[in-house]
Formats: sequence, structure tokens, C-alpha cells
Amino acid sequence: MGSEHGTLGPPKVVNIEDLRRLAQQRLPRPVFDYLDGGAEDEITLRENTRAFQDISFRPRGAVAIKKCALAVSVLGQELSFPAMLAPVGYSRLMHPGGEVVAAKAAGEAGTAYILSTISGHKLEAVKAATKGPTWYQLYLLGGREAAEAGIDRARASGYSALVITVDTAVAGMRERDPRNGMKELLGKSLLAKLRYLPEILAHPRWLAGFLADGGKPRLENIVVPGQGPMKLIDVAAALVDAAVTWDDLQWIRKVWPGPIVVKGILTAEDADRAVGEGAAAVVVSNHGGRQLDSVSATIRALPEVVSAVNGRAEVLMDGGIRRGSDVVKAICLGARAVLVGRAYAYGLAAAGHLGVVRALEILRSDVERTLRLLGCPAVSALGPSFVESLGRR
Ligand code: GLV
Repeated sequence: MGSEHGTLGPPKVVNIEDLRRLAQQRLPRPVFDYLDGGAEDEITLRENTRAFQDISFRPRGAVAIKKCALAVSVLGQELSFPAMLAPVGYSRLMHPGGEVVAAKAAGEAGTAYILSTISGHKLEAVKAATKGPTWYQLYLLGGREAAEAGIDRARASGYSALVITVDTAVAGMRERDPRNGMKELLGKSLLAKLRYLPEILAHPRWLAGFLADGGKPRLENIVVPGQGPMKLIDVAAALVDAAVTWDDLQWIRKVWPGPIVVKGILTAEDADRAVGEGAAAVVVSNHGGRQLDSVSATIRALPEVVSAVNGRAEVLMDGGIRRGSDVVKAICLGARAVLVGRAYAYGLAAAGHLGVVRALEILRSDVERTLRLLGCPAVSALGPSFVESLGRR
């Protein structure tokens, strides 16, 4: 086993938490904490993962299934297993390969990659790196003109859906970022950076890769017409004018003819509104616990949204998924597929392309094993009878 996966195999890497630990070793703290951290007291961040423990399985025994059918179709595109890669900002800071190698690994695993607006590689290069479906996640950073230019490029290069994030009226207060000097480190003043530099210098492996990659990347997919790509700024500044409103959605529907996915839905009210505004899919999401703290874990919000949507659109979910059994629980409770963010980004930060490959392999084999142990032959046969929700809230 060890040699099959190189240094990313057992005993070093058995689960996603192992990749997280490797990411923590390789990354300077400001970058690791950007990826790992959440808003304020991180209640929602923790609850997203913990709430899966409140759901128990109800297996069927005495069933021997050699091979389970894991494929699902999402917006008419087949995924080899029901997890796709969520948009993750600043991926090129985590590893120089960033969005390109993550998309490549997604395609190799037969699944989809969603590119964040806050990305360091050109969306065309990301598309060219993968055989799998790609979606583009849109923030209005840089204004409508820049967004329209991004949408045009996404359409021309073959992105098949546009993802609109609706939970970023402002950036959540991720307290680790100001403590780590994220703004200063991404800013111009060397003097302001000074006190934060020892931590960066203590991670020479990451620093060498960052410098060889040309240093701070630009936001290649935010180009205000007539100006170059926007400079990389910290997330609080980036999200200031980035929010998309229901009004914007009407404009977006005119410039994007394909399916629209609304991400950041936690209530029946918003689910109903999104479907009414023409969403082809909604993502039950609290932005990985990075925006409003103290909102419900997404696995808890999922049933309310599934019942409000009532088959009128596809329902996806993200938040807290670290194991294939979490993916299976979400599907039992009505998600068509899930998005994984940190689970693959830890792999990216730990080891680039191979780290993402390993993360997806772990999740995929977990899903398959869980189905076999449940006595369920196919993802399409999962449903509420395979789980029991315990009371704790
Ligand atoms: C960006 O969307 C972030 O959550 O950091």
C-alpha cells in the first residue's frame, strides 16, 4: 500500500485529517489558517463536521455486494461518484499548481471542479487541465463589467454552469486572518509585513515554491476591461463589493444562458426564492462556517431545503465533509451530491496534484466501503431508511 501511494499512503496518510496535518506542516500559518479557519467562535465550522455524528446508519446485513454503482448525474453531467470540488479561493497560494492541478485531479477522478472567482490561474488553463465538467463561481468583485467579461470567458471556454454565492453580504469575521497579518502580508508596505515575516521564513519549502511561481499571483479572472487582472487582496477586502443579490441574478440570467446554481441556501424561504428565480440547483451551504457564525450545520439544514425545493431543482450540499460516510449521510437525507472544499484543499496544500488525487481516492473508497457495509448496491438506492437522526442539537 505504502509504495502505491508513495509518501501519501499509509502509515502517513490514511484519512483526510492526515492530509490536514501535512498541510499544516507545509504552509505558513496565515495560509493554513485562511484555509482551516472559520468565522468568530468557529461554532458553525465545528458543528458542520460534528453534526454528522448525530446521524446513525441503519444497515442491511447478510448482503454481499462486490461492486457498488457510485455514479450520479448532476445537471445532466455524469460524475463517477457523488462528490465534486467546491470553489476554494486563493488555491494558488496553497500550492503553485493551485486551481489547475485541482481541476486535473477532479477530471482524473471523473468528477467536476468548481472554479472560484478568487483564483490565481486563468480559467482557460483550468478548463484545459481537466477532462471533467467545470463550473464557474461568480463574485461581483471588480464590478459588473469585470463579471461580464469573466462570464463571457467562462462560456467561451466551456464551463457548463455558473455558481452564484449568496451568503457574502460582507466577509465573515475570520479572526485568525487579522491575527496572522493576512492583509499586511498581501499588501504593499514592507514595513507592515515585517513582524509577520518570521513565520513565512520558517516554511522554506512553501516559500521556495511561492517565489519560483513568481510570488503573489494576480486574480487572473477578474479583469476590468481596459485594465489588467486585479491584484490579489485579502478576503475581507475582496468580498466588500462582491455580493450577488436577487436583482443581480436577473441581469446574470440575461448574460449567462446556461444553468445557474445558487450556493449558500440554509432555509426553506431562500430555497423557494432561488427556485423561483430560475436556479437549476441550490447548494445548502454556510460557506464552510466562514461567514455568519452560529448558523446550523448544513447536514441539519438539508432536509428543510430538500422538502421546500420538492424536486423543482437539484439539491447539493457542502460543509464538514471529511469522510465518505458523511457523503453517504448527505445523500440519504436528500442531497444529489456534495461539494468538498477543505477535504481536497488540505491535499492540495500538502502535496499539490498528488495530494488532491489522494484526497479524492480516500473519499471515493470510503463511499464505496460504506455502501457495501450498508448493504446498498448503488448511490441511487440510498434514502432515509438507511439513517436515523439522533436528537442532539
Ligand atoms: C472566500 O470565498 C472565502 O471563503 O474565503
